Amino acid sequence: MAVGIFDSGLGGLTVLDAASKRLPEMEFIYFGDHAHSPYGVRDADDIHELTKDAVQRIWDRGANLVVLACNTASAAALRRMQEAGVPEGKRVLGVFVPLIEALTERHWGDNSPPREVAVQHVALFATPATVASRAFQRELAFRAIGVDVEAQACGGVVDAIEEGDMILAEALVRSHVEALKRKMPKPEAAILGCTHYPLLQDVFQDALGPEVKVFSQANLVADSLADYLERRPEMAGAGEAAYLTTGDPGRVSDRATQFLRRRISFSAA
Ligand code: DGL
Repeated sequence: MAVGIFDSGLGGLTVLDAASKRLPEMEFIYFGDHAHSPYGVRDADDIHELTKDAVQRIWDRGANLVVLACNTASAAALRRMQEAGVPEGKRVLGVFVPLIEALTERHWGDNSPPREVAVQHVALFATPATVASRAFQRELAFRAIGVDVEAQACGGVVDAIEEGDMILAEALVRSHVEALKRKMPKPEAAILGCTHYPLLQDVFQDALGPEVKVFSQANLVADSLADYLERRPEMAGAGEAAYLTTGDPGRVSDRATQFLRRRISFSAA
């Protein structure tokens, strides 16, 4: 019984970690496309092709459900994949909706018309491709009115994290927060719209100040996955737990171990 979790690199491990705590009986097939990471600087067609290919490889291992634990892939590829149709009994889900439901205080499947919500000034931190897609604003507009979103494309942060250079990653986060604040001096909420960013959540919170509520996806996606599997238990398909990468398994294992603070062994996808 396994669910697939996909990211361009290591960021999806933040989702996997939360999902394993929420669903301790469940096995997960993690797939990091390190050979092609980062996705955030690629164009939408490229991201779509890479994501489609990776998801197929996870389905081929027996999983029925794949979570795109990558905002960039969710923004650039999910809708296209769903519209083109997925094989019978298979499903692919993204990470935007649970986050936006939390921000707009909605329960799953609440499709009522958009309404005013508590927050009006929201900062979005994401990769350049996610920001360019405007997918976040589109999903938000289905659920809320009157919310002003200022997006900051956080170039370089994913590369620094993947390289394990957390000093550079922290400096970049602080400069991106400063840039955002020049455009929106007093955000009420901030969205970490990239699954790598929870690894620097304390830095975002510190740079933004204590009055800003920071939303990060790992727990929200884990809760939403648990809820989904309760309603659709058959989607916990076959397959066995695995950590797969298209990159160098030794190097990726070392970084993953550093981030999750437990030994993780990747094998070649
Ligand atoms: N973790 C991916 C995301 O959520 C990072 C994308 C990238 O590879 O640039 O957007």
